[in-house]
Amino acid sequence: MASLSGNERPDLRDLLAFYASAGVDDAILDDPIDRFAESAQRQTIAVQGSAQQSPQGAVRSEPARPDKGAPPPPRPAVSAAVPDEAQAAAAREIASKAATLDELRQIMEGFEGCNLKATAKSMVFADGNPDADLMLVGEAPGRDEDFEGLPFVGRSGQLLDRILAAIGLDRKSAYVANVIPWRPPGNRAPTPHETEICRPFIERQIALVKPKVLVTLDGPPAKVLTGSPDVILRVRGTWKNHTTSDGTVIPVMPTLHPDYLLRNPAHKKLAWRDFLEVKAKLRELGSL
Ligand code: URA
Repeated sequence: MASLSGNERPDLRDLLAFYASAGVDDAILDDPIDRFAESAQRQTIAVQGSAQQSPQGAVRSEPARPDKGAPPPPRPAVSAAVPDEAQAAAAREIASKAATLDELRQIMEGFEGCNLKATAKSMVFADGNPDADLMLVGEAPGRDEDFEGLPFVGRSGQLLDRILAAIGLDRKSAYVANVIPWRPPGNRAPTPHETEICRPFIERQIALVKPKVLVTLDGPPAKVLTGSPDVILRVRGTWKNHTTSDGTVIPVMPTLHPDYLLRNPAHKKLAWRDFLEVKAKLRELGSL
């Protein structure tokens, strides 16, 4: 294979940007592995192995072995648990024991039952005021949130802040969290099992915050918290309920995700209507 000369070589930043745009933006191990060197080494060993023939020309039966100086094969740095019902049951049990938000955070930090934790850089617990009457819930952190350890800090978070400002609120008067606290690699959609494992944590978080009104951003959190199976464009703008483990019923306004609004600005008017409903409900409940 012809090698690239110095000025033909892609700039490292271009290469990283290319990887990021292809969704390859998670470092699984601390140290890089040169797969090209590994494969070249394997080829050399294979060639040496086939050249080790007996004087009569018969090929020896032992397979070629890597020499002693060869680097050991890479081992995965983390063990990823395959999501199953046992982990969801474990999450339910430990989440119910949290008496405060700090305890819940600690319990979640020590929880090893969600495979998403293995690839995420941080656990994104929440942002904003835990005493707020309004709580907003998204699905899962993205790349920017994973970097900062806070929900909705990227472009969609900036739009969310502008929407909140339009109804006279900000992160000091609202509380923001996600159903899933660990970023799914490459921003893929969480699997139903991953969602079930994390569901007890967000339910406990809601029970501890006790908001007067919930807003779900996009279809998946609406489905998790209200049980509504409808697609978001059908369910948005209609009040639903979330019932906490102690029986408190909290009104939920499902609305569109800010990411969706960035891609479909014509639908911002729908979200605006939903947030006007939220504002009216907060007024009615004496919170605004
Ligand atoms: N999208 C979400 O659902 N949550 C975040 O925290 C960021 C983007």
